Amino acid sequence: FTPKVLAGQQVLVSAGPTYEAIDPVRGLTNLSSGKMGFAIARAAHEAGAHVTLVAGPVSLPTPRGVGRINVKSAMNMQKTLNVLSQTATVFISAAAVADWRPVESANEKIKKDGSGRVPTLSFVENPDILAGIASGARAQNHQLFCVGFAAESHDLLANAQAKRERKGVPLLVGNIGPDTFGQDDNALLLVDAQGTTDLPKASKLQLARQLVAEIARRLPT
Ligand code: C5P
Repeated sequence: FTPKVLAGQQVLVSAGPTYEAIDPVRGLTNLSSGKMGFAIARAAHEAGAHVTLVAGPVSLPTPRGVGRINVKSAMNMQKTLNVLSQTATVFISAAAVADWRPVESANEKIKKDGSGRVPTLSFVENPDILAGIASGARAQNHQLFCVGFAAESHDLLANAQAKRERKGVPLLVGNIGPDTFGQDDNALLLVDAQGTTDLPKASKLQLARQLVAEIARRLPT
C-alpha cells in the first residue's frame, strides 16, 4: 500500500544522459544510467501522480503507468521539456545534461583522409534547461515545483546549496557522483531553504519513494 501523496499532480521527470552528435555515427555522452530518474517516475506514479518521463538514450524499461518520450541531445530535451512543463505541477530534473555540444555536427561521416591530420572539435555551452524552466514558470506565475539534482565528487553540501540558488529552485538533491552512476544504490542529501535532510544509502527505488514523500510535503496546499 502506497499513500497517494501526489494524487492530482502532473509530474514531469527527466532522466538519463544526453547524446551530442559529432557526425551521423559518432557523438559525446556520459555515464548516467537513468536509474534514479526512472525510479522517481515509478515512485511518483505509485504515489498517484500522472507522470511523464523524458529520457535520454538509456536501456531501461518504462515504469508501468508512466508516459515516456525519448530524446537525444540537450537541445532536443530542452524543447520537449519546455512544452511539457507548461502543463506540469512538479518538474524533477534528474537528467545528466551535457554541459557542451559540438558547434556543428557533420551531415556525413567524417573520414580519415590518409594525411594523418586529426579533426578538431569546438564546443558551445548548452542552455541550462532546469534554470530556464524554473524562471519561465516564475515569470508566468505558473505554480511549478522544480527539483534539481547535483552529482558532486567533493563539497557536496556547499555545491548543492550554491546550485540551488543559481538554478532558482526550492529543492536540490545532492548525490556523490560519479560513483553512483549505474549503481542500484545511492544516498541523497536534500537541500532547501530550511536546511538539509539526509536520505542514507538505500536502493534507488527506496530513495525515490522517500524523495517523493519529501516533495509532497513541500507542495503548496
Ligand atoms: O550544473 P549542473 O549540471 O551540475 O546541474 C545539475 C542539475 O541541472 C540537474 O538537475 C540537471 O538535470 C540540470 N541541468 C539542466 N541543464 C543543463 C545542465 C544541468 O537542466 N544544461
